[in-house]
Amino acid sequence: MHFAGNGSVKSPTVVESAAKASPGNCSFRTLKVATVAPKRPAPAGHDEMDMNTILMNSPEAPTALRSSSSDEETTPSVGLRRSLESRLSSRVQRVPPSPIRRFFDLATTMDDVISLGIGEPDYVTPKPVLNAGSDSLLQGNTSYTSNAGALELREAVAAMLTRLYGAPTYDASTEVLITVGVSEAMYLAMQALLDPGDEVLVPQPCFVSYTADVILAGGTVVDIPTYADNSFVLTPGQLEEAITPRTKVLLIGYPCNPTGAVMNREELTAIAQVAEKHDLVVISDEIYDRLVYDDHEHVMFAALPGMAKRTIHLGGMSKDYAMTGWRIGYAAGPAELLGAMRRIHQYLIMSAPSGGQAAAIRALTDPSAELAVQEMVASYGERRRFFVDGLNEIGLDCFEPKGAFYAFPSVRRTGMDEYEFADKLLREERVAVIPGSGFGAGGEGHVRCAYPVEMSKLETALERMYRFLRRHGV
Ligand SMILES: Cc1ncc(COP(=O)(O)O)c(C=O)c1O
Repeated sequence: MHFAGNGSVKSPTVVESAAKASPGNCSFRTLKVATVAPKRPAPAGHDEMDMNTILMNSPEAPTALRSSSSDEETTPSVGLRRSLESRLSSRVQRVPPSPIRRFFDLATTMDDVISLGIGEPDYVTPKPVLNAGSDSLLQGNTSYTSNAGALELREAVAAMLTRLYGAPTYDASTEVLITVGVSEAMYLAMQALLDPGDEVLVPQPCFVSYTADVILAGGTVVDIPTYADNSFVLTPGQLEEAITPRTKVLLIGYPCNPTGAVMNREELTAIAQVAEKHDLVVISDEIYDRLVYDDHEHVMFAALPGMAKRTIHLGGMSKDYAMTGWRIGYAAGPAELLGAMRRIHQYLIMSAPSGGQAAAIRALTDPSAELAVQEMVASYGERRRFFVDGLNEIGLDCFEPKGAFYAFPSVRRTGMDEYEFADKLLREERVAVIPGSGFGAGGEGHVRCAYPVEMSKLETALERMYRFLRRHGV
């Protein structure tokens, strides 16, 4: 592969890893004849949809939530003495506007953009799983299910957690809840636990919804920044320091979006000891549990000694099984907490989508779905190696991500901050990445690149980034 800068420069490592990652020039083709298929080519306008997805995932999504809303600043609609914006709840007004909005508005106006901004698999749901969902619907299973979700699915979730992670056997009737993605489960957990002023400790950078969910529940977010030189992990010392008499919940999410960081058993055990000492409730978002690489073994937080009784475990089908659109997630934990979440869920949602639940049952019980997960993980792993090596080689120092499907390189060597970098890279070279500080404290000086993108596009993105860096003196 050539990084065609001012006089093209050959990059032997990248050439080698590209060749390995794409036997026969296309690692996807192998997958196509197996149980997983790459997503169909994006239709016109797809990028816009994807950008919107990112925005919807961000705290600022609805325009109505943006910035200030005093009467002086907004013109009341005809017939209203006070603006509608001024009547929004203070909770909603406290949800911060996302700093990435302007940036994505710009991306959607451009052609030929390689987007590394999309945090979702580039696969269609594995065939047997997809068929199970559609067959179930065609057979007429189009009604509500039990509020908590189909018992068969709750049992499958509980069995899977015990099988994979040695989790305590959750009682499917009282300790497992099927939700509309982890998104809903997180919202419910916060609503169930928080009173105004309760503090939630949130290691950052982190998934953008965490902060919004805490605020919407009336709680207070306490930022705990994590950094590349400490592998973006939370340390017991940081945790101890952040605890106050108002602390109620610790929220962790490893493997991490946006850094790709993971925490090993020893590190998590140290966190568990602090949680025990200070009697914290822990919410652990493990939506990327299966997407781990090299020698890393995922450890389920609730399976650590003594943690099941204080932990709400969150997981879902979106990432591991390429099922983002089916909207199925789950929560498992102590009956008192799960019962409260269920109470909110039954009024808010009734039940998660029935077709999605049928598909999820198949995903968790059919060995061919398991095979498909392994194939997808292997492919992400190849792309991770190729892309992270490529970033380091062109001059963007990249922390080694061992989970999820994101790379989080530092852009400090460019002398630009993450916004200027992302903005100029998009305008000059049409590569879309997300400024790291959009994900919270600790993200400054970094950008998030999602690598579930065709290998050839990753290669072109690296070439463009290389050219960009040379132009800017790196
Ligand atoms: C860390 C994390 N948690 C939760 C979610 C929400 O996932 P879903 O609602 O599709 O289950 C996402 C989506 O990007 C995520 O990255």
